[in-house]
Amino acid sequence: MDGQKKFYQMTINERRDLLQEESCITENDICALSGTAGLDEDTAGRMIENVIGLYSLPIGIARNFIINGRPVSVPMVIEESSVVAAASNGAKIAQSGGGFHAEADEPQMIGQMQILGLSDLQQAEEKLQRGKETLLSLAGESCPNLLKRGGGPVEIEIRKIPETRVGPMMILHLIMDVRDVMGANLIDTALEAIAPEAERITGGTVRLRILSNLADRRLARASCSIPESALRFKDFSGDEVLERILDAAAFSEADPYRAVTHNKGIMNGIDAVLLATGNDWRAVESGAHAWAARSGVIRPLSHWRKDPGTGNLLGTIELPLAVGTRGGATKVHPGAAAAIKLIGAESAREFAGIIAAVGLAQNLAAMKALSTEGIQRGHMSLHAKQLAVSAGAQGELADRIAARMVRENHVSASYAAELAAEEKGTFHA
Ligand code: MEV
Repeated sequence: MDGQKKFYQMTINERRDLLQEESCITENDICALSGTAGLDEDTAGRMIENVIGLYSLPIGIARNFIINGRPVSVPMVIEESSVVAAASNGAKIAQSGGGFHAEADEPQMIGQMQILGLSDLQQAEEKLQRGKETLLSLAGESCPNLLKRGGGPVEIEIRKIPETRVGPMMILHLIMDVRDVMGANLIDTALEAIAPEAERITGGTVRLRILSNLADRRLARASCSIPESALRFKDFSGDEVLERILDAAAFSEADPYRAVTHNKGIMNGIDAVLLATGNDWRAVESGAHAWAARSGVIRPLSHWRKDPGTGNLLGTIELPLAVGTRGGATKVHPGAAAAIKLIGAESAREFAGIIAAVGLAQNLAAMKALSTEGIQRGHMSLHAKQLAVSAGAQGELADRIAARMVRENHVSASYAAELAAEEKGTFHA
């Protein structure tokens, strides 16, 4: 293999070989990751219902990530072109400032129990406060393996909602440290286990027993500090790009319409890693957007400032990330297991920090492109390849057609079809 080649210039097989050389993943892992020996129909049939087969999406690797001083190859599953390239680009810019610093809270999940039929909420709360220890120990009995791994029930919180459409409501929050799993099953099992005792203590009726996807005790954060010189781009000076990024950040802080798109860009990166690793991206999505709107107005998940001391561009991100490196699909899906192995996180907390860093890199690349030459130029060259493939071209032919469309600044489905027909004519001639 040509050691001088950049990852994006390599063939698919060269990329697979390199990943094996530079990380602890094996040939079997590569096969699972690339889908050649990944999920089989039998296993799929045990994952969900009414299975008719498997559904494929591309998996790519974002490069250049240095997170807490460690190089990380980031597997991303996504249908949208440019996302993997943009994440790699954002990570490369951040590299010049030492990469990303990332961290996450203890993996504490919130389970909710709705208690109805209480005429005196204050009295019921007092009773629950007295019965807390019993409830916590019952919850612990429902998860002996978690206790062995150092997790388990942590706390019980009581919330009173005196007025609802159906009368007064008491909400019991069971907080559990779920260690390295996402935790939905552990929480739901524990809630169901303690519900009869909660009814006995309060005299009320327990209805819903389910985790909350607003995992605001499980926040992950990442930051980067980028020297202005690393932001220089084409005809734009580093200082100019930095100022433009700050203008773009101010836009996202001031306008909900922009904040939503800003956050969508962040979730491009985050969701792609969640998909690659078999994590519940819907849970993270709903939590992230609720977190972004916690003030009552949707705000950007990331913030960009100029460091008054160094003049560096400072980026930060914070969001709830209820993710697991064990259990669920991460265990049964061979590709997801291999993706987690490739990332090499030692805990779900470390993994959450890495995902936050990917979101920040994704955002940085989008802000830089949007505030300078726009995203269409870079996007179009990748989009052109998709159009060429849709027009029936494959391999080198698809690359040739795409390159021509970009060169001629004429990227469209109809032109791709025209060029494909023209090339076929050439071959038949
Ligand atoms: C496109 O998928 C994502 C962007 O719109 C994000 C953004 O505007 O920041 C480019």
